[in-house]
Amino acid sequence: MIVAESLQKSFTAAPAGKAVFAWRRRKSVRVVAVDAVSFRAADGCITGLLGPNGAGKTTSLRMVAGLIRPDGGRVEVDGLDVARAPRAALARLGVLSDARGLYPRLTARENVAYYAALQGMPAEAAQARIETLAGLLEMKPLLDRRTEGFSQGERVKTALARALVHDPANIVLDEPTNGLDVLSTRALREVLRHLSRPEGGGKCIVLSSHVMQEVERLCDDVVIVAKGRTVARGSVGALCERAGAADFEDAFVRLAFADAAQEAEPA
Ligand SMILES: Nc1ncnc2c1ncn2[C@@H]1O[C@H](COP(=O)(O)OP(=O)(O)OP(=O)(O)O)[C@@H](O)[C@H]1O
Ligand SMILES: [Mg+2]
Repeated sequence: MIVAESLQKSFTAAPAGKAVFAWRRRKSVRVVAVDAVSFRAADGCITGLLGPNGAGKTTSLRMVAGLIRPDGGRVEVDGLDVARAPRAALARLGVLSDARGLYPRLTARENVAYYAALQGMPAEAAQARIETLAGLLEMKPLLDRRTEGFSQGERVKTALARALVHDPANIVLDEPTNGLDVLSTRALREVLRHLSRPEGGGKCIVLSSHVMQEVERLCDDVVIVAKGRTVARGSVGALCERAGAADFEDAFVRLAFADAAQEAEPA
């Protein structure tokens, strides 16, 4: 189970300006990426963070995954505070980040095995798990190729195998179907559904997307994020009802863009 409570994060971005004017005192720009994001993702459930571009989804998930430190708020993974007990909390988490980041000179198998070793897995157990995952993700022919030159879909599969190798109870995926074709998207959807069911381990899965059809098809629970804030939460049906909309697209537009000043939802 993953709980994110009142997350906040700002960045200092470099201002525009040419090097020739560097002698002038330039003011840097403060960007509030996440202002008040809260959600509770249950085990055995796929929770979707849905929001427009720049809403703060990636930044929120990076905080959940311990990749960046929140300015405010907290994250718990299975009751463990990510800031206080990062090792224990992150050992229970598999992460597919937006930058898939593979080592190009290593084969897919070596990429995954390396990560397994970092997680403290014995080599034999890691190899057995890699074979299982390669079957599940339909990537056996890829395993012993260097990842250099892999297609987008092949990279996603490898990164996903790496995220799942230590069999984490919680899985966080940033835009997992980005760049995948229809067949790969369907296959990935099936894998995620399987992992969320009792026979797949009843995992807690959190994913981000800006594609509402994707979220509508896959997610049991939806968290709508807009302008760095959680603005609504619930099942697709509940959100449609709340927005008084006939379909999910209308509900999303009404809820996400309704009122810039609306109150953020508590956890
Ligand atoms: N390292 C950074 N430095 C400066 N600004 C940043 C940084 N990371 C994120 N931001 C800004 O924070 C805001 C939220 O970005 P984020 O990547 O979290 O959005 P997102 O919801 O994932 O969007 P998308 O759907 O486009 O992936 C954006 O305005 C972005 O420009
Ligand atoms: Mg993003």
